[in-house]
Amino acid sequence: MQALFGTRTAADINLVAQLLLLAGLLAGFILARRKCFAQHANVQTAMVLLNLALILLFMVPSFYGYIIAGQSVSGRVAQLMIGHGVLGIIAEVVALYLILRMRTTLIPKQFRLGNIKFAMRATLALWAVLVLLGIGIYRALPPAPHCSSSDSLALISTFTLWSWRMRRPAAVRQRSRATPST
Ligand code: HEM
Repeated sequence: MQALFGTRTAADINLVAQLLLLAGLLAGFILARRKCFAQHANVQTAMVLLNLALILLFMVPSFYGYIIAGQSVSGRVAQLMIGHGVLGIIAEVVALYLILRMRTTLIPKQFRLGNIKFAMRATLALWAVLVLLGIGIYRALPPAPHCSSSDSLALISTFTLWSWRMRRPAAVRQRSRATPST
């Protein structure tokens, strides 16, 4: 994933966030089993909306980079990504539908699902499969190039030089103020 940070940091953030979201959804499922429906609705809504942000911020740019701009549709990783992407869109759209269906009256009567419990369980199961597929993609992609100590030294010296240059005009100004011209 090159989209935001230029290294696989974004993929690491996405992976950890996705595991936390799945844990959150499972906690929400337990809340429903305990008949705490208001809390269940709030937790699931938050997880689905956070996931929408992760899809738009991290996964769509990565998908675009590898599959569309990179024009790669064959090979194991590309096929995993395409399968994951298609199922991911379905899961997110169904999850958003469930939020609208449960929390609003925006869905017209003829499009309101009857067996909502089954739809919720199926979405959670698909979500868990997607996380597993995502882990598969994460493991299949090459790791970030290792930062050597000479890279760190180069970065520190560049920053020191830059901050010294930024400070110099201020110091020169201060000195000229201290010695008033005749
Ligand atoms: C419920 C929906 C989704 C879940 C639970 C999910 C989960 C995950 C997880 C756990 C990863 C591994 C972390 C990573 O490598 O970044 C991942 C990676 C990825 N996902 Fe998803 N995903 C979902 C939807 C989508 C959608 C809709 C797309 C495509 C538009 C997509 C495209 C990708 C791509 C391309 C990667 C590889 C990112 C990289 O490492 O460069 N995902 N996903």
